[in-house]
Amino acid sequence: MKIKSKISNASTEFNSNLQHNMAGIEELQTFIGKAKDGGGEKSRKRLEKSGKLTARERIHILIDHESWFMELSTLAGKDLYEEKVPAGGIVTGIGMIHGRACMIIANDATVKGGTYFPITVKKHLRAQEIAEKNHLPCLYLVDSGGAFLPMQDEVFPDKEHFGRIFFNQARMSSKGIQQISSVHGFCTAGGAYIPAMSDQSVIVKGTGTIFLAGPPLVKAATGEDITAEELGGARVHTSISGVADHAAENDEHACQILREIVKHLGKPQQPKVNLIKPRPPAYPAEELAGIIPTEATKAFDIREIIARIVDGSDLFEFKPNYGKTLITGFAHIEGIPVGIIANNGILFSESALKGTHFIEICSQEKIPLLFLQNITGFMVGKKYEHGGIAKDGAKLVHAVANAQVPKITMVVGGSYGAGNYGMCGRAYDPSYLFMWPNAKISVMGGEQAADVLATVKVAQMEKMGTPLSAEEIEEIRNPILEKYARESSAWYSSARLWDDGVIDPRDSRRILAMTLSSTLHHQWNKTENGIFRM
Ligand code: COA
Repeated sequence: MKIKSKISNASTEFNSNLQHNMAGIEELQTFIGKAKDGGGEKSRKRLEKSGKLTARERIHILIDHESWFMELSTLAGKDLYEEKVPAGGIVTGIGMIHGRACMIIANDATVKGGTYFPITVKKHLRAQEIAEKNHLPCLYLVDSGGAFLPMQDEVFPDKEHFGRIFFNQARMSSKGIQQISSVHGFCTAGGAYIPAMSDQSVIVKGTGTIFLAGPPLVKAATGEDITAEELGGARVHTSISGVADHAAENDEHACQILREIVKHLGKPQQPKVNLIKPRPPAYPAEELAGIIPTEATKAFDIREIIARIVDGSDLFEFKPNYGKTLITGFAHIEGIPVGIIANNGILFSESALKGTHFIEICSQEKIPLLFLQNITGFMVGKKYEHGGIAKDGAKLVHAVANAQVPKITMVVGGSYGAGNYGMCGRAYDPSYLFMWPNAKISVMGGEQAADVLATVKVAQMEKMGTPLSAEEIEEIRNPILEKYARESSAWYSSARLWDDGVIDPRDSRRILAMTLSSTLHHQWNKTENGIFRM
């Protein structure tokens, strides 16, 4: 059924929303531009002088001509440390190589020699997780000095630290997920294990080296005097040690060899869902920025968003007259079937039950799920507690956690409290999670948090016989409001990798299409639920 939009793009409200949201989109573009600048002009010049390309130039050559690179988490590391770590010092994303979706992970040598800060490790591991979940070949363009040594306690010893990269490589290789690397710079210690743990590898003559310890350490340890090239250059590793398989003349040649390796891989699994001929939506994506209200608390009809994302603006709604604050329905994006679960108000018992039922259907039919989050949480109060909202909410959370289908989450408004869980927040393992610039994420809204803390303090002080003045109550509330406003922003989230990127709402369709298509070549297991509390 085609969604009939009620939006008038000539209305004052539309235009004031548009102005407000375009400012957010421009801010996003500025931040992304700065992140893509990497370590800046000076370090880029140095790279160029040594005959090397930048990480993004390499990726551009690697992917199919006229295809696009879907970069993930470009704002990782933003304002996170004293040191600037643009894009977290590593570029990750999905690119097509010989028509096949691949995960590309490329160190940015212009950012502190491509070394791994904690956020770099987190971003690398997240990219590997996406690749593993969706069975995507992994290509590592290695140009890294290994761990960022001043922060070794935050990058080396723990489970989700540097060592996990190689653990993941071994596990993915055992599952038939190809691990392929090319070495463009000095790879020392940890960095050396990436090519060594790969199924196939390339090394660039003159600039690429692989060794467990570089010449200075060798000199200190054994007294041996040796150049980097003699110790672990392309000739050594492709003709003496066998640590690498192909020697490339330069960065460009290395990328061509990588393309050739991918070309000769086995055939990927064929999609298990019925793909149909894509159709554009009936309404323009440009209007999305005019739909989101200027105030995050103001309601809007989520069907207006769906109408500008799905093929033909067609949504076959499931249970349209029941649990109306959660919209569920079947649609296609670029011809790929998708089950949509979208908030249209606060979650009640009925909406949670409807969502659970819908997830069961999609899991059975292997239809990917798309969660559109704009949720303040579940309904509270006596009537709803007595009606068992906690057990109904739990059913939704249970179904989301166990659904063995690709899950993609896009936060188009608020993402608060248990609503975040029921709508497949980060902890529920979505294959991808994106935020719009206007999106907000926190345990509850700033006002509510300030009220809770002020109420607790007021009660405490009254018990002690020293009631608080209105001014003192404001002094408790204000810092909380300020903190929540800052920490709930999409920028704050993306800097810490709570998502896979802040995206321009107008790009949603093409990003969802790319992510959905990247999930289709994996044999998803049968969904098995546990006990639903009745
Ligand atoms: N930890 C922290 N900072 C490091 C670093 C490391 N492992 N390796 C390099 N850096 C820093 C440098 O201090 C320099 O910082 P600055 O820009 O503030 O001066 C910046 O990264 C660039 O390093 P530089 O040596 O000038 O660049 P380069 O392109 O000539 O060489 C490397 C890059 C990575 C090959 C080289 O720095 C190197 O060999 N580093 C040591 C690698 C190592 O032994 N790692 C062990 C990890 S387990």
